[in-house]
Amino acid sequence: MRILFLVTAHNSLSQRAYVELTDFGHDVYVQPALDDSIMISSVEQYKPDLIVAPFLKKYIPEIIWRNHTCIIVHPGIKGDRGPSSLDWAILNNVKEWGVTLLQANDMMDAGDIWASYNFEMRVTSKSDLYRKEVAEAAIKGLIEVVERYEKGNFTPQSLDYSNPDVKGNLHVPMKQVNRAIDWSEPTKVIVRKIRCADSQPGVLDTIYGDEYFLYGAHEEDLLKGNPGEIIAWRDGAICRATGDGALWITHLKRKTCEEHLYFKLPATQVLADNLRSVPEAPITIFDNYKGSTYREIWYEERNKVGYLYFNFYNGAMSTEQCMRLREAFIKIRKRETKVIVLMGGYDFWSNGIHLNVIEAAEKPSDESWRNINAINDLIREIINTDTHLVISAMQGNAAAGGVILALASDWVFARKGIVLNPHYKKMGLYGSEYWTYLLPKRVGKEKAIELTENCLPISTYTSKKLGLVDDVFNAVDFKQQLISFAEELANNANYEKILIEKNQIRQKDEKIKPLERYRQEELEKMWLNFYSSDSIYHDLRKQFVYKLSCQLKLS
Ligand code: COA
Repeated sequence: MRILFLVTAHNSLSQRAYVELTDFGHDVYVQPALDDSIMISSVEQYKPDLIVAPFLKKYIPEIIWRNHTCIIVHPGIKGDRGPSSLDWAILNNVKEWGVTLLQANDMMDAGDIWASYNFEMRVTSKSDLYRKEVAEAAIKGLIEVVERYEKGNFTPQSLDYSNPDVKGNLHVPMKQVNRAIDWSEPTKVIVRKIRCADSQPGVLDTIYGDEYFLYGAHEEDLLKGNPGEIIAWRDGAICRATGDGALWITHLKRKTCEEHLYFKLPATQVLADNLRSVPEAPITIFDNYKGSTYREIWYEERNKVGYLYFNFYNGAMSTEQCMRLREAFIKIRKRETKVIVLMGGYDFWSNGIHLNVIEAAEKPSDESWRNINAINDLIREIINTDTHLVISAMQGNAAAGGVILALASDWVFARKGIVLNPHYKKMGLYGSEYWTYLLPKRVGKEKAIELTENCLPISTYTSKKLGLVDDVFNAVDFKQQLISFAEELANNANYEKILIEKNQIRQKDEKIKPLERYRQEELEKMWLNFYSSDSIYHDLRKQFVYKLSCQLKLS
């Protein structure tokens, strides 16, 4: 079928819908819905069988929905209507939520229902929920809708609030007044307030007399202080006391004023001068404290397998974070284990170098250079590991150098449904991270060029078909399957042989072309991206960081 997507932005959900439907053989065209006339002319031009709005903040013009079936993906249970659906669901601490696919008509979210799926709510941020449970339910529903539409004999259910199945209702947009924090409230309540606004719009609050939006909340159950007081800092985050304990905030965005636009940065970077008298509360990667706290990098070990977690907000990896992760990797490589599993974060695996931190640097070119070298140093360490077998376990989406980071390991596994964007061009970059070695090695030269030039998102199904990943595990048993594989490998009677073979391949590759040469060649091009006067990278990065364009990934 010819399917037209009308989108406010080709975001994680519409990218996921795009890859799933194209995997099914449908012909999908993505149209940025900049205004009514653009939507109308794209329908005239493309002549779709079906129109889908996976993420659309505008009304579809009447001339379109009267003449075509238009399906709206709404992140709410049946009967839920209006904006801020997920925000209210998280704030109200509901136990179950859902996604409803309804037909566009003249009333927002009130059209006939084509499909709806519910899911159990997880304690996490809005955007994490959106990329996981919401995306899963939406895709299930979308595939069902497309099948129902193709068959042509389905009658959608009209919205009827007397139906016991319809439990939602119309709600108002959530405002800052609904989100406002009273620091004498319990930690759990404040964490929910921050999470229901994370990643957008953030909760507005005052710190040291200035207004900031807060993001990245984590409960803390040891540290305590006077409500509202900043009592510690760690790895870019600040710890703030609440009515019954404390919580961590990893990121802040200063409120934009007329003269200045601001963007999200690690909290300690934003508040630097104010934190001089606040103590650091360091925690080592080996600390096995099981209570609630905030940690970016940590390590677990079982049955000769070491698991290294790195949970970087938005998957962005600054110079310092890359250096910390490299140090951690080197430390755990000295352990008496046989297999190392790189676990990444649950929300994201990695999105490569940290464009926000680069933007905030006094000299973004120099910081870009430091950051790319720091991530390269980390990746070189992984590639050159001759004492262990290494596995990448991608639980969340990844892009650019973040995808390549995963390929540095000996095995790559992905959670079913994550979306990979193995390309750099949209940021005006040639790319490094030894991609010219690692990508063709897995998918062949031709495909490597296609992937990096076409700049399309790809599904886990396609990734496995291409050989980009070795296997794909379902979300529910991802960890179990991974542990089984890693432990079997560590206890494999042929372990030594496998390790020797791996090292021989690396030595052979090194003789054909040293890693250092790949790096030099890539960095020569990156140098031009960072320092040449006709580079478009700095403009594209600015647009991305300040969200000046709607970040459309396709046209
Ligand atoms: N540095 C800093 N922040 C990043 C980032 C990076 N490398 N990659 C993603 N993010 C942030 C986004 O700004 C966004 O922030 P917010 O939600 O807090 O506002 C969040 O991560 C999610 O990204 P978004 O673009 O909204 O998600 P998406 O699913 O629509 O698109 C990507 C995902 C990865 C395709 C897109 O974010 C992207 O192109 N990132 C840049 C990748 C890159 O070029 N890295 C550098 C080269 S190695």
